[in-house]
Amino acid sequence: MTPVLVYGAYGHTGRFVVDELRERGFEAVPSGRNPAKLPGGRTASVDDPASLDRALEGVAAVINCAGPFAETALPVARAAIRAGVPYVDVAAEIEANLDTLGLTADTAVVPAMAFFGGLADLLATAAMDGWTAADEVHVAYGLSGWHPTPGTLAAGRVSRERRDGKRVRYAGGRLEYRDDALPRREWVFPEPLGPRPVFGEFSMADIVTIPRHLRVRDVTSYLTADAVQELAAAGEREAAEEFVVDVVVRAGGEERRIVARGKDIYAVSAPLAVEAVDRLLTGRTKVQGVATAGEVFDAADFLRALAPRIAVERP
Ligand SMILES: NC(=O)c1ccc[n+]([C@@H]2O[C@H](COP(=O)([O-])OP(=O)(O)OC[C@H]3O[C@@H](n4cnc5c(N)ncnc54)[C@H](OP(=O)(O)O)[C@@H]3O)[C@@H](O)[C@H]2O)c1
Repeated sequence: MTPVLVYGAYGHTGRFVVDELRERGFEAVPSGRNPAKLPGGRTASVDDPASLDRALEGVAAVINCAGPFAETALPVARAAIRAGVPYVDVAAEIEANLDTLGLTADTAVVPAMAFFGGLADLLATAAMDGWTAADEVHVAYGLSGWHPTPGTLAAGRVSRERRDGKRVRYAGGRLEYRDDALPRREWVFPEPLGPRPVFGEFSMADIVTIPRHLRVRDVTSYLTADAVQELAAAGEREAAEEFVVDVVVRAGGEERRIVARGKDIYAVSAPLAVEAVDRLLTGRTKVQGVATAGEVFDAADFLRALAPRIAVERP
């Protein structure tokens, strides 16, 4: 069995990733900073590179699920690079994603390989299908709710601090930091969701992953207003949400659309991350080194492999 280290293995998402690896015939090697929560696992701290090197001994790849990634992404990715094995994380923090994408490596380093960041990158890349450039990419998230985990809330806080409370969007070919309020509008999702109020320019990791490798002028994410309000009033994560990710790409007056549906944005991040590791370890890649999902994988083929947990259609 191929051993894969899961850093942050006892977190909400880490547990899904451990289960997914085992179901797919990998040996999941749990790791994290708290030995009390890791019976039989490998304790390692991001402040102690030697402990990370020991945790990585003999494994074939690492999936980092420990967020906020502002603290964990670079130390764990650097340890993977030292060990010469692929690194994948589920970070949805724009600043941490940028840090990771700024590394240089011969081995694969793939940040944001999860629901936010990775999935929309695969969808937009598949929708572009042969186009070399686009004017606009729109990524609309229709969530039936959003009960975030403590890790998500902490990541959001850290990200806002890192950008001095500003919001960020991708417009005119660059990231732009702004002080004004998020625009509100309506997005017409495919049925049965239909028209819904959304917050536009809701900063998602997609504004980093997509323009990293696709020539696009504007990348805009939208999130259903109900989900934004639930996120703001968050308590315990009690229920899994249904999701629709509606991606529209436009170039020179032409439009293409692709839609993904499923349930539980945390649980589906596990098949995304594990499918990535499987492909990295079996050489099913387009590029080497540091890259995002749509850049490194055959997007349409990757999306097909996610069925039935993520069902993709082109309406
Ligand atoms: N891109 C996406 O769509 C997506 C999907 C799922 C999750 N995520 C992100 O993944 C992260 C984890 O989410 P979660 O739902 O699993 O949250 P969670 O249940 O709160 O778990 C967070 C985990 O991270 C660990 N951790 C935090 N800071 C650490 C540090 N400095 N060193 C070592 N371990 C640390 C925690 O360990 P302790 O208990 O020891 O603190 C815990 O195991 C969040 O940042 C979340 O936003 C993103």
